[in-house]
Amino acid sequence: MSERIRVGLVGTGRIGQIHARTLTQMVDSVELAVLTDVNQESARACAAACGVPKVVGDYRALLDDSTLQAVVICSSTDTHAPFIVQAAQAGKHIFCEKPIAADLDKIDAALDAVERAGVRLMVAFNRRFDANHQRIKKAIDSGEIGTPHRLHVVSRDPSPPPIDYIRVSGGLFFDMTIHDFDMARFLLGDVDEVYAAGGVLVDPRIGEAGDIDTAVVTLKFKNGALGTIENSRQAVYGYDQRVEVFGSKGAARSDNLYPNAVTISTGQSVARDLPLNFFLERYLDSYRTEMEAFIRSLADGAPMPVTGFDGRAPVVIAMAALTSCRENRPVKIAEIG
Ligand SMILES: NC(=O)c1ccc[n+]([C@@H]2O[C@H](COP(=O)([O-])OP(=O)(O)OC[C@H]3O[C@@H](n4cnc5c(N)ncnc54)[C@H](O)[C@@H]3O)[C@@H](O)[C@H]2O)c1
Repeated sequence: MSERIRVGLVGTGRIGQIHARTLTQMVDSVELAVLTDVNQESARACAAACGVPKVVGDYRALLDDSTLQAVVICSSTDTHAPFIVQAAQAGKHIFCEKPIAADLDKIDAALDAVERAGVRLMVAFNRRFDANHQRIKKAIDSGEIGTPHRLHVVSRDPSPPPIDYIRVSGGLFFDMTIHDFDMARFLLGDVDEVYAAGGVLVDPRIGEAGDIDTAVVTLKFKNGALGTIENSRQAVYGYDQRVEVFGSKGAARSDNLYPNAVTISTGQSVARDLPLNFFLERYLDSYRTEMEAFIRSLADGAPMPVTGFDGRAPVVIAMAALTSCRENRPVKIAEIG
């Protein structure tokens, strides 16, 4: 397809700015034509920084633009499901940030609207597009490491988001661990049972907002493999993103990425600089490759690489984790739905 696909973007916060930059500077065959945000100042600043020609007052106005073929939803989590429904009804294809919602009725209504309208939906699980995670997946799929027995994911943020973000995020399992639940499915397939423990060890205000900031999750996969996920909202040394799959013929492990490959050796220590600090630095390439995949699927009609079902499934795991954590017991995925 030679014509550029025209898209609009809603939500010009942290991730919206990344996608706006990716769409305008890194991905061909797409034109980011319109931005909106309830914070109009933020939308105007993003438009100026990225060279987007138009800012509109609200999402409705964006959907009313008949020249747009697709929307990129980067607003707060509580807006995703209603925004998907409205976009589908307006006949726009949709790229939506994770998670779709923390509520299965809302997710199912959104997926139903997409199906009825015959539009395409991709849910933004960018880590699938990271070169390290892709290599681990290849090591599993090719049989290089034999039958997988164990998955271990370490996923820690350098610092917690603002409390206002936490309040509309859906909670740690839906906001943060959701990436790791998706990674677990991506690498080892369907999960059968979840056992989770959580605590408030980083910031008591997170507990006052009804959330946790630290978690350990045990997964039993349908294929018999076992998984563990470890989360913290605060790692003082930076973004800690490591994955290991251990199998009958070996193991595949990814480490953190660093700004350089230098070690400084002295009479006292052998040291190196801290890892890349957060998602913007660590996953920048993956944001580009996931957006390229979305635009390519729209252009050639190929299946979306991350579907609406892929958006729903980790939410079910997150619900099982929340139930497990609250009731202090293992929870079967089948119990949730
Ligand atoms: N895939 C990733 O790596 C990744 C990283 C960060 C955030 N996210 C997801 O992206 C979403 C946004 O996260 P963020 O960190 O950018 O948050 P943020 O708070 O920085 O930005 C959200 C933006 O949405 C705007 N907004 C809220 N309600 C709106 C509405 N009704 N209409 C228009 N604009 C509205 C806010 O004004 C704000 O500018 C969340 O769902 C989060 O889970 C994904």
